[in-house]
Amino acid sequence: MCVITIRPGTEEDWDLVEEGLIQGSLLTERPERRSDISHAALREQARKTIDKFHINAKGPEATFVAEVDGVRAGFVWVTTEISLGNGDLCGWVLEIYVLPEHRRKGIGAKLMSEAERWTKASNANSLWINAGANNIAAIALYEHMGFDIETVHMSKRF
Ligand SMILES: CC(C)(COP(=O)(O)OP(=O)(O)OC[C@H]1O[C@@H](n2cnc3c(N)ncnc32)[C@H](O)[C@@H]1OP(=O)(O)O)[C@@H](O)C(=O)NCCC(=O)NCCS
Repeated sequence: MCVITIRPGTEEDWDLVEEGLIQGSLLTERPERRSDISHAALREQARKTIDKFHINAKGPEATFVAEVDGVRAGFVWVTTEISLGNGDLCGWVLEIYVLPEHRRKGIGAKLMSEAERWTKASNANSLWINAGANNIAAIALYEHMGFDIETVHMSKRF
């Protein structure tokens, strides 16, 4: 039986975060558009996100890494921000990612619980996450964790 552990992320884990951001962005796109997207552009965008929310972070942020038998299997990256709507301090999951071969073992749920624990300890009163409408696994995970849909983004592509 494999042993799943969760530990705080370190500077050495940002390669995994970069990969997770790339895969997460791809899944946010509609399936018919995914083959048109350049991997290099996704990587550049992932690096900009890490620069903005980690290297030049304006507030607290944390990563937690899941390991299976001591080998990295996924991560969650979480931050807080003041809501423009009501001034409350909110948690935001910037990304969650589990390697394909380790999915459906409860790792995503463990990482989300850790994100929730960190958010509460940061005195935020809610935790938010964006998901692509076609990302069935992510939406199912968040519903499993007790999340509700709050807003719906719509687009018309030209
Ligand atoms: C979304 C993701 C993090 C889920 O991780 P995971 O470790 O497989 O999730 P868990 O095993 O903890 O799943 C917990 C529950 O979530 C739901 N769930 C997770 N994946 C699901 C899927 N593919 N289909 C249906 N339900 C799913 C189930 O209720 C599951 O419980 P169960 O296995 O007892 O039925 C993983 O699929 C992933 O990394 N996807 C690619 C990156 C991504 O989409 N990130 C989110 C961007 S918004």
